[in-house]
This record gives sequence, structure tokens and C-alpha cells, in this order.
Amino acid sequence: MDLIVSGCKGKMGAAVLEALRESGHKLLSGVDIKADGTEGFPCVGGFSALHSAADCILDFSDRSQTEELLAYASAFRVPLVIGTTGQTEEDVAAIRRASMRLPILLCSNFARGLTLLRRMAETALAALPHCSVIISETHHISKRDLPSGTAKYLASDIRKLVPDVPISIRSERTGDEKGSHTVRFVHGAEMLEIRHSVGSRSVYAREAIEAAAWLVACQPGLYTEKGVAADADWDLWLRESRQGR
Ligand SMILES: NC(=O)c1ccc[n+]([C@@H]2O[C@H](COP(=O)([O-])OP(=O)(O)OC[C@H]3O[C@@H](n4cnc5c(N)ncnc54)[C@H](OP(=O)(O)O)[C@@H]3O)[C@@H](O)[C@H]2O)c1
Repeated sequence: MDLIVSGCKGKMGAAVLEALRESGHKLLSGVDIKADGTEGFPCVGGFSALHSAADCILDFSDRSQTEELLAYASAFRVPLVIGTTGQTEEDVAAIRRASMRLPILLCSNFARGLTLLRRMAETALAALPHCSVIISETHHISKRDLPSGTAKYLASDIRKLVPDVPISIRSERTGDEKGSHTVRFVHGAEMLEIRHSVGSRSVYAREAIEAAAWLVACQPGLYTEKGVAADADWDLWLRESRQGR
């Protein structure tokens, strides 16, 4: 595949470029607001400077780029893997509209273990339906969105199963933490804890590239993880976002 990596000069962008070198796929161009010609690879400051299509775009930049990203992807019909988090309701509505014409994967966490955590949470809730839930997330100090997209997604997963479950989200920003999420199910004097953490951004980067290879063969639509189309759950996710919890 010929790929565009958006946010290529950031922390995730660097991890994706490294994973790309090992993958055999090709970088068509990077896009980053900090592009200055010293990158040593093709790189532009914005999508308006790109005039040809790639096979897929991998986006790990900032939500402020959403409009430009969607304009390019729609004009050239390029499938889009959005790893960026922190989108507003309006951003998600625009992404949804664009997905009528092209496949878009909007995924706040590409780690495989996180997908497993979500499945385990379902099992825990089935056994402890009257519990309360505490989601704790820790990330590096320069992370822009709070709470994390993953914490909001976990909360919406849980509400889908038990709508009135009390959920609190605790966020911590420290050092260069690559991302950890703990879900605690408190049931009277009992507590069950499931924890997932990532020690290297290469985890997210490799999975995002695999996701791109999967997405390019998909029909237009909005997907939330490999093999999973977005559905009404999305409205719960948006509600969590609105409440800012
Ligand atoms: N889905 C996942 O699995 C996953 C995993 C990790 C991170 N993430 C998300 O990925 C995103 C990037 O994370 P990061 O840690 O790599 O952040 P980062 O280090 O700040 O990198 C983002 C890069 O994008 C650039 N940028 C910002 N606005 C832009 C715009 N409008 N146009 C072009 N480039 C722009 C930034 O430049 P400036 O520094 O000048 O702003 C920076 O170089 C975040 O939303 C994060 O939450 C997702």
C-alpha cells in the first residue's frame, strides 16, 4: 500500500513511520503542521498540498485537522484510519457523513489487549450487574484530550450493557506514559479489576497499519474496530463525550 501518515512529526507519527519501514508498505507522503523540508522523506504542511491519491491515510494528528483530512479523503476517495482522539460531536457528524462515500475506521485504541479488555468487561458485567464501575486512565503529560477517547469508549460499552450503572472516570497525566486503562467493578465488599497498559507506541502503530490493510478492502461505512461497523453504540459514545466524564 502507498500510505499517507498525518501527524507524521508527532510521537505516534514517528512510531508509524518506523513500523511502516518494517512492514513493506510505502510512505507516499507525511502531513504535519510542523513540516519544514528537513524531514528526509516526502512531507507537506497540509492536505491541500497533496494532489494525488494514496491507498489509505493513517491519521494521528489533532482533531483540528478533521475538516482538511475529510476534504482530501473525500475528493480522492481514500480510505481513512483515524487514530486521533478528542473529536467533538460536530467532528464525528462530519466523519459519519464522509463515511457514506468511503470506508473510515475511527478507533481510539488499536491495542489488541484493549479489545480483549472490552470483552472481559462484558463478562464481568454479566456476573456483577449491580456493581459500580471506576475507569482509571493514565497518559503522558502532553496528551490533549481528557478523559481519553478509550475511557469514553469503555464507558459507552458498559452503559450499552447496563444503562444505569454508576461510572466514574479518573484521569492522570504523567511523564511519557504510553497509555494505561484500568476498569474496576465494585460490588459490595468485592472488587474486580482489569488492567491494560502499553509500553511502546509501536503496539498502536503496527495494529493501525494492519487495520489500514483491512480497511482498503471494505465497503464505505464507519467502523470502530477491525471487523466492527459503528452502530447505535456511537450515540452512547457521543453522550459520554458531551458529559465530559
Ligand atoms: N488510536 C490509538 O491507538 C492512539 C494511540 C496513541 C495516540 N493516539 C492519538 O493520536 C493523536 C496524536 O498523538 P501523539 O501522541 O502522536 O501527539 P503529538 O506528538 O502531539 O503528534 C501530533 C502531530 O500532529 C501535528 N498536528 C497538530 N495539528 C495539526 C494539523 N492541524 N495539521 C497537521 N498536523 C497537525 C502536531 O504538531 P504540533 O506539535 O505543532 O501541534 C504533531 O506533530 C492524539 O489524538 C492521541 O490521542 C491514538
